[in-house]
Amino acid sequence: MNPIPKITRPSQSLPLVNLAKLRSSCALVLLFIAPSLLHAQANPPRNPPAAPNGPAAGNLGGPLIGLTTAQTADFRAGLAAFRQAETLDSGLGPIFNDISCVACHLAPAVGGGSRRTVTRFGRTTNFVFDPLTSQGGSLLQNRAISPELREVIPPEANTVAQRITTPLFGAGLIEAIPDATLRALASSPKSDGVRGHVALVKDVTTGTERVGRFGWKAQQATLLAFAADAYSNEMGITNRFFPTENAPNGDLARLARADQIQDPEDEVSAITRQSDVDRVAAFMRLLTPPPRGQSNPAVVAGQATFATLNCNACHTPSLQTGPSTIAALANKPVALYSDLLLHDMGSLGDGIAQGNATPREMRTAPLWGLSARREFLHDGRATTLEAAIRAHDGEAALIRDRYLRLNTNQRTQLIAFLNSL
Ligand code: HEC
Ligand code: HEC
Repeated sequence: MNPIPKITRPSQSLPLVNLAKLRSSCALVLLFIAPSLLHAQANPPRNPPAAPNGPAAGNLGGPLIGLTTAQTADFRAGLAAFRQAETLDSGLGPIFNDISCVACHLAPAVGGGSRRTVTRFGRTTNFVFDPLTSQGGSLLQNRAISPELREVIPPEANTVAQRITTPLFGAGLIEAIPDATLRALASSPKSDGVRGHVALVKDVTTGTERVGRFGWKAQQATLLAFAADAYSNEMGITNRFFPTENAPNGDLARLARADQIQDPEDEVSAITRQSDVDRVAAFMRLLTPPPRGQSNPAVVAGQATFATLNCNACHTPSLQTGPSTIAALANKPVALYSDLLLHDMGSLGDGIAQGNATPREMRTAPLWGLSARREFLHDGRATTLEAAIRAHDGEAALIRDRYLRLNTNQRTQLIAFLNSL
């Protein structure tokens, strides 16, 4: 129906070999002109470009330890795609939230999280949530390639929630936990009023029903599906799993006037049979988990308190991955401190229904990597771990009250433990 002839999106990523060649020839040139650069080095640029290959294996933002050469190359190609800024020519928009994955996932290293939030909206009537899909819900895209396209929260919406950006460190290990493990956890007996059930989602990349585990509502089961969703919904880059552009507040006429790039915009290479969606999924899959902090007597005591309070009922200390074609991911312990299940969190719920998650249900947030974060809970409302614990409600109310009865020393030890994860 679009009257404007579509143009093709230019290829995004240079093959890795070319990049490598480019770098080594740059290094040679630098050797010859180095003296003239002395002055420049004395005044380094404010924002020096991050190392193109990322941090070393095992460091935050670096790849898993024990990857093959080919897997390391996949990680680097994925890192480049993750940092790639989309443009009008590459298909950005018409409506979007930002221009690259790294724009939101950057702290304290590429692949991390940030205080950046996205907005979800809908209409709640008699406890039933309507995502207002025909008006562009539930995810708001608050930027656009031209101002008249920008989405607004429709007046019908009476439920609006912010969701903060989650870090991706160790995501491949979370992906490799078998569905059966999470189903077994869900049906295991629990105490203190804790229940929990699996998120059931249709995986767009295979069409099968899977156990969700990514996102605040466990709304995706695989990194490929999340990447495809994020390209489409955060950046407006259509791809083979999401071939249709989002219309501004659902208005197809406005979309037709604006959208000029042929879909899908994320093109599959004839040689590698991969597109940016695949590259970015591989990058996330191969990101190393957050390194565990140093232990000390306070941390050890805090760990015991965590168990005594029964925080473990939801924040399961460790799960095990199943088989994987990537040896570094196969049959490994994952110290994520989450059961990845949905729990009724009472007043802490964000009011949005998504998949089989009801408005009050949220995924148990993994606690690894907490020390690298500054904002906590789904909307970032808590700036201390203490505040995050106090906000627990619903199924966690009894265990939260137990926390409130701790003395100052016990609380300090518990926080020291959380900061060591
Ligand atoms: C505008 C900011 C923004 C951009 C751009 C963005 N993200 Fe995110 N990302 C978020 C937010 C916010 C969440 C949490 C959303 C939720 O759960 O509803 C998130 C969550 C995720 C998660 C789930 C992590 C977990 O452990 O649950 C993955 C995976 C992810 N993003 C991948 C990507 C990829 C890949 C890209 C680029 C294609 C991308 N994101 C671009 C903000 C962003
Ligand atoms: C009933 C399950 C449940 C119990 C019990 C529970 N939590 Fe949580 N926890 C959650 C959920 C769900 C979230 C995510 C809440 C949200 O959406 O904001 C969370 C989030 C957190 C966060 C913030 C993490 C982040 O990424 O922002 C911390 C810290 C935390 N819990 C610590 C604890 C401690 C300490 C205890 C024991 C006193 C505890 N939790 C008990 C389910 C639980």
